[in-house]
Amino acid sequence: TTNRDKFRPLYHHTPLYGWMNDANGLVYKDGEYHLYFQYNPYGSVWGNMHWGHSVSRDLVHWEHLPVALARDTMGHIFSGSSVVDLANTAGYGDGTIVSFYTSASDRNGQIECMAYSKDNGRTFTKYEKNPVLTPFDGLKDFRDPKVFWYEPQQKWVMIVSADKEMRFFSSKDLKDWTYMSAFGKGYGMQPSQFECPDMVQLAVDGDGNHKKWALIVNINPGCLFGGSATQYFIGDFDGTNFTCDTKPEVVKWMDWGKDHYATVCFSNTGERVIAVPWMSNWQYANIIPTQQYRSANALPRELTMYSEGKDIYMAVNPVKELEALRKETKEIPAFTVDNGKEFTIETLFDGGDGAFEMNIDLTTNADCSGFKLMNSKGEYIDIYLDMKDGKLVMDRVHSGIVDFGKNAIPHEKEAHDNRVKNSINYVDDFALATWGPLSKDKQHRLQLFVDKCSIEIFLDGGKVAMTNLVFPNEPYNSLSFYSRNGSTKVNACKLYALGL
Ligand code: FRU
Repeated sequence: TTNRDKFRPLYHHTPLYGWMNDANGLVYKDGEYHLYFQYNPYGSVWGNMHWGHSVSRDLVHWEHLPVALARDTMGHIFSGSSVVDLANTAGYGDGTIVSFYTSASDRNGQIECMAYSKDNGRTFTKYEKNPVLTPFDGLKDFRDPKVFWYEPQQKWVMIVSADKEMRFFSSKDLKDWTYMSAFGKGYGMQPSQFECPDMVQLAVDGDGNHKKWALIVNINPGCLFGGSATQYFIGDFDGTNFTCDTKPEVVKWMDWGKDHYATVCFSNTGERVIAVPWMSNWQYANIIPTQQYRSANALPRELTMYSEGKDIYMAVNPVKELEALRKETKEIPAFTVDNGKEFTIETLFDGGDGAFEMNIDLTTNADCSGFKLMNSKGEYIDIYLDMKDGKLVMDRVHSGIVDFGKNAIPHEKEAHDNRVKNSINYVDDFALATWGPLSKDKQHRLQLFVDKCSIEIFLDGGKVAMTNLVFPNEPYNSLSFYSRNGSTKVNACKLYALGL
């Protein structure tokens, strides 16, 4: 890698060159995970949208393949999904991969199109009678088709994000689509533009007799801390209507950071539900300090459901395949940090390149138990458990290069006010702290992944996931624990250098 590429992650998926946003058409077939993505091959900013393509057998090692769907005379190739047509409903042969995307242009607006691949997702033929679906009311924002098979009624369902709601359609042959219902107006965080839907069914607390649906709704704006974020609604689906368990104002976040967007899941993975986020935020995605390429995907995450009181939530955990990345191990014996004191590990890894995993188990008797991940330039990320406010906080104000976030884009007043209210240590769109809810329990577990320009935290078995970008001028390679108003016992601190 060249100096200009110093922020390129070592084990996260990035495009070789050019611009990437949303993960598209995620599908598993014959031992391969296909990751298509919003791609501009002509520059490192958004434009000329194609579907780029990478493939992996283990969700860890990705091979770059040629563009799968190129922009054409109908318009950009916007986001969408793929299915494996196991029963040959479309007539292209058993097991054909069929993909759906939005064709977007000033002339035609946003319309849903289909393409199919008979060579395991390498090359696609666009359906000659495209589009397969247009908005019945001329809606301007009508995009990101998610298609899945609804087994009980032997039919396909398509969800399309339509301004501030999701619209549901059905089909027997993937070509003719009939409107069924809509969900979402007034639900969740406001203001919000719905984008990139997905809907998955999961067993609650591992009980196969108690399954619920989660409708995944990416919104921009609407993030608690400004810009783009992913929320979800838990409820039921009868083949026609989605009904939500909770009141419209209840908001459930899939991630509590600022760089987790357009998250959708692989199709055809059986009982497992594996999601892949785009690791950026529309507020500043086009101006982050990388040059040959822009944006990475956050780590693939396995989604499960658990109940808490009367409510149901999703737990978000890194897929277990990522354990294959572990190289050198470093175990720090248990220690206690007394009130007002610090415990510092000067060097995490000899020649540390800023790509590692950290597993911490701690018991707190303090108001605040935390640690700083630092480099020798005095830059750091501050991560702490605020036991008084019940918050897990990640503060990147001093993390390195942050100045590009000053008024990155003009924003709506309401969204701006929300951000000032919700962020801790708010300086601007990038320099701020994000937080997620923390239980009153004294013991907590944190799993952290650092990779050059990103930090991902999974708290207490995935109850909170938090994904944030950082741009340190030098890799973080030392660690300092602290404790305020009481002591903190670190029961275990295990580190792994990570590499492919
Ligand atoms: C979400 C999104 C989608 C759209 C795509 C365009 O990030 O705005 O709604 O299809 O990006 O690149």
